[in-house]
Amino acid sequence: MKHRIGIIGCGWVAPFHVNALANLRGRVEVTWVADPAAERTETVARQIAQEGLGDPRRLRDYREGLGEAASVFILLPHHLHHRATLEALAAGCHVLLEKPLAVSLAEADEMIRAAESAGRLLMVAYPHRYRTTTRAFKQYVESGAYGRLILLDAMMDENLRGYADLGWIREKRTLGGGVFFSASPHMLDVMFWIGGEVATLSMVGNHGGVPMEGETTAVSIMKFRSGAIGTTRHTWVSPAPQVWYTMRAVCENGILTLTANPEGDLVKEGHLCRWRSVIRATPPDRVLLESGEGLDFTGEITHFFDCLETGQPCQTDARSARKLMELVFQAYDKAEREGGN
Ligand SMILES: NC(=O)c1ccc[n+]([C@@H]2O[C@H](COP(=O)([O-])OP(=O)(O)OC[C@H]3O[C@@H](n4cnc5c(N)ncnc54)[C@H](O)[C@@H]3O)[C@@H](O)[C@H]2O)c1
Repeated sequence: MKHRIGIIGCGWVAPFHVNALANLRGRVEVTWVADPAAERTETVARQIAQEGLGDPRRLRDYREGLGEAASVFILLPHHLHHRATLEALAAGCHVLLEKPLAVSLAEADEMIRAAESAGRLLMVAYPHRYRTTTRAFKQYVESGAYGRLILLDAMMDENLRGYADLGWIREKRTLGGGVFFSASPHMLDVMFWIGGEVATLSMVGNHGGVPMEGETTAVSIMKFRSGAIGTTRHTWVSPAPQVWYTMRAVCENGILTLTANPEGDLVKEGHLCRWRSVIRATPPDRVLLESGEGLDFTGEITHFFDCLETGQPCQTDARSARKLMELVFQAYDKAEREGGN
């Protein structure tokens, strides 16, 4: 059986999804793609046809396609997640939704209720925990070989100054917050998965470098119920990004470091960019794993299809994404009260 899917939104992230679908060719057919910007729809439709995933209908309005797809991938600006998800669920579709779930907890709650009453899967796309390298990193941390986890320290270093127009990223109304809300959850999701239940999370941020309302740089600290602690550092205005995604696990007897770095210019090259992912351990310093895996959604989409086929629980379902969002909003509230952002 092939999953018949529709793709809603043909912007920057869409070709990454098509790349991953190409690795799952036998399991999927893309029946339509939708975007009001016809040239973007055409580009993504051509990529889909070239990859042998079908010859999708090109739609300006995704609502015309909802009846023809069993599942939809929603790849839209954040303020549009809520409405598109409700419409897709009402039409009987399962939904793989790009992160974050929504821009408010009230929206999130409505989406969770809608998915549960429709009996449809609503999965939120947090790709990092589904990457082979990240999964191996978690296994090394949990293997016991390095002792008890003391500290998880994660960093993302990016530069949005290359964008001519930030579009919907500019406003909090459309983005939902700043870098900490929009993108630091790529680290937080993995950290909560490895570190377990979080007792407290705080953040500070600052603004500037690119014209957006939300913070452009944010640091957070957290304590896990296990006793371990964690930090995230994230900037969208790095003058010289060195490390795109890195996470260090400081354990009692050793340090494990995961890095995933584009080898070219990620903003300009997008899904064609080459990558290098590495896991190192020290002492003594040695490479445990090295691969060309990058911003690859194959694991994430495989999990979505597996959940649909087997009924297994979804690791990044809407309830867990809501929990993450709530912690982020609580951290924002604390920072707001104390002048931290
Ligand atoms: N997982 C990741 O690493 C990752 C990376 C980048 C973006 N994202 C997420 O992907 C989503 C989209 O981000 P992006 O960078 O592709 O944004 P983008 O602005 O490049 O693309 C959004 C697209 O949606 C289209 N659109 C707007 N209204 C629409 C509608 N009603 N129907 C159909 N299409 C519509 C726009 O025309 C645009 O082409 C966001 O949720 C973002 O956070 C995830």
